[in-house]
Amino acid sequence: MKLSRVLPLGFFLVVTLHSLAVADLNSDRQALLSFAATVPHYRFLNWNPASSICDSWVGVTCNLDGSRVVALRLPGVGLMGPIPPNSLGKLDALRVLSLRSNVLIGNLPTDVTSLPSLHSLYLQHNNLTGNIPTSFSAQLNVLDLSFNNFTGNIPQTLSNLSQLTSLNLQNNTLNGPIPDLNRLTHLNLSYNHLNGSIPSYLRSFPDSSFAGNPLLCGLPLNPCANPQPSPAPASSFPPPAAGPHKKRSKLKLSKGIIIAIAVGGFALLFIFALIVICCCLKKKDNGGGSSVLKGKAVSGGRGEKPKEEFGSGVQEPEKNKLVFFEGCSYNFDLEDLLRASAEVLGKGSYGTAYKAVLEESTTVVVKRLKEVVVGKREFEQQMEIVGRVGQHPNVVPLRAYYYSKDEKLLVYDYISAGSLNVLLHGSRGVGRSPLDWESRIKIALGIAKGVAHLHSVGGTKFSHGNIKSSNVLMIAENEGSICDFGLAPLMNVPMTPSRSVGYRAPEAIETRKHSHKSDVYSFGVLILEMLTGKAPMQSPGRDDMVDLPRWVQSVVREEWTAEVFDVELMRYQNIEEEMVQMLQIGMACVAKVADMRPSMEEVVRMIEEIRQSDSENRPSSEENKSNVQTP
Ligand SMILES: *[C@@H]1O[C@H](CO)[C@@H](O)[C@H](O)[C@H]1NC(C)=O
Ligand SMILES: *[C@@H]1O[C@H](CO)[C@@H](O)[C@H](O)[C@H]1NC(C)=O
Ligand SMILES: *[C@@H]1O[C@H](CO)[C@@H](O)[C@H](O)[C@H]1NC(C)=O
Ligand SMILES: *[C@@H]1O[C@H](CO)[C@@H](O)[C@H](O)[C@H]1NC(C)=O
Ligand SMILES: *[C@@H]1O[C@H](CO)[C@@H](O)[C@H](O)[C@H]1NC(C)=O
Ligand SMILES: *[C@@H]1O[C@H](CO)[C@@H](O)[C@H](O)[C@H]1NC(C)=O
Repeated sequence: MKLSRVLPLGFFLVVTLHSLAVADLNSDRQALLSFAATVPHYRFLNWNPASSICDSWVGVTCNLDGSRVVALRLPGVGLMGPIPPNSLGKLDALRVLSLRSNVLIGNLPTDVTSLPSLHSLYLQHNNLTGNIPTSFSAQLNVLDLSFNNFTGNIPQTLSNLSQLTSLNLQNNTLNGPIPDLNRLTHLNLSYNHLNGSIPSYLRSFPDSSFAGNPLLCGLPLNPCANPQPSPAPASSFPPPAAGPHKKRSKLKLSKGIIIAIAVGGFALLFIFALIVICCCLKKKDNGGGSSVLKGKAVSGGRGEKPKEEFGSGVQEPEKNKLVFFEGCSYNFDLEDLLRASAEVLGKGSYGTAYKAVLEESTTVVVKRLKEVVVGKREFEQQMEIVGRVGQHPNVVPLRAYYYSKDEKLLVYDYISAGSLNVLLHGSRGVGRSPLDWESRIKIALGIAKGVAHLHSVGGTKFSHGNIKSSNVLMIAENEGSICDFGLAPLMNVPMTPSRSVGYRAPEAIETRKHSHKSDVYSFGVLILEMLTGKAPMQSPGRDDMVDLPRWVQSVVREEWTAEVFDVELMRYQNIEEEMVQMLQIGMACVAKVADMRPSMEEVVRMIEEIRQSDSENRPSSEENKSNVQTP
């Protein structure tokens, strides 16, 4: 292995003199440089001693006045070998340290765990060995040493940490008893060699917090065979003292599970509905849709072939007023359209969509708008823009429209492949080929370009107004196209708690007005959805009904970044840095204050930069492998 190739930093570094004023920052800088010089890493770190450590060094975060380093996050950069003592241990203002998913080996130096301000320590997924140090920062809040090779006991000193709320030690080789830990909200000790009985404080955690420790006993696992801890008959009836409480927390838990299942079920139903809804639809093969149609199409149909019902409001003298846009190759007229056989594709927030098959097997989507609140002129003006902005590969064009007092119809191309929503959330589990990271990044870039095009061609007053994953249609592999734009200002859409609400910017919910910046917000939610695999407004695990941006923000603030990402993405190698960059773009887009959000053009550039830095920095996969596999 050629370490010289993977060590971009010089070994002999001269501290620059211009920054003598900030002596502490200089000592932080030296500690970091000595760390980078001693620990080989295959991912490039731009830690140039001449550049500003607070503004440009990858993974380094300073406090507000730029006088100290308070966080160091280097997940998945291929750090190899032991953590040298007297390096990171000198960053004595450090609050967050994350070196997870590297190839670190050897002991964990005590000077790291006892850094006085250390709040969160993430070292999971390394190959650290030896005992866990016994001396810790009194501030320690999160300790994650899971998926390493630590041996020995869990230090008793952990029980003295009043701030500790989250402890992850799963998949190590720890033995001995569990210390008396309380105040924890998150605990995982599974897959170790722990023994003895589970302390009473910890009995409300699920059994998966303790699984894989065959010698552990007591709730929530099997009762201890040894009658010492509690009277023997307690095996089937809970002991009186701790009993009722314990039972209740068990009960609560199972309620939680039921709710989770119910929510999950509903989410699935919603997703299924989403598949069908709006302009963007997947072909529906069974008769479910047509039965909806039949119910409504009594007047026209004779029960054989389901007939259209979207023309019922068309006035006789107006029959040929279908307005086509330039460049459209369709040559049917309104009557042809009304004669076509139609099938309900779904009901969206703006109305019902039909798949209409005309003669000569032309298939189009007809969307029947309800609750249009503007007059004919305004409608036509908006349609003119909607038609004009459709000339982009990542935008689904409007082909034609019809307006009368009682009927408003829009005609789009029929796209048979599914929506992004289906790709992301459709039937997870067996037999599903998950959307890989490459594809997600490509789709995101395409949609960003499409929306940027809408903004630049449509002008400052024109926005999409309804960006969501079910409005991203797949037009080719890894290529999405955005639909359903420019309709929001025409409609009186009630603010029912629908799926789209999770995508709405706070100011758009308040004022019911959409803007470029509110589109950027919705696009940010879409990015977060692609990164987390979670649909907006879906209950993300523990906390009920938190919206996606807020959930992601809270998780990232606590440096749980790894938990944010879609488990389906975790199988791919070397994408962490890119995912983190994408996460940052998504979070910038969902800034609460509209002016803080980037423009869509900037978003496109930022996503493109991920790809560029990727091809520059990422070693070839071969090189990667040889470096990772042979530390
Ligand atoms: C971890 O280190 C041990 C010995 O130090 C070695 O046998 C093992 O293969 C390493 N595991 C990984 C995943 O690097
Ligand atoms: C832990 O160490 C043992 C022996 O040193 C080794 O066989 C095993 O692969 C290590 N486990 C991990 C996850 O590195
Ligand atoms: C916990 O703190 C108390 C008082 O501060 C001390 O007496 C005790 O020895 C500590 N226990 C451990 C395991 O450090
Ligand atoms: C954790 O340990 C369990 C039991 O040994 C094993 O099934 C699981 O694959 C481990 N997880 C990882 C990521 O090593
Ligand atoms: C736990 O295991 C250790 C050896 O690893 C043994 O000395 C101790 O007695 C065991 N404790 C219990 C309660 O089984
Ligand atoms: C604990 O970790 C194991 C192994 O990774 C996992 O299967 C289990 O779901 C986790 N339990 C909790 C409560 O986090």
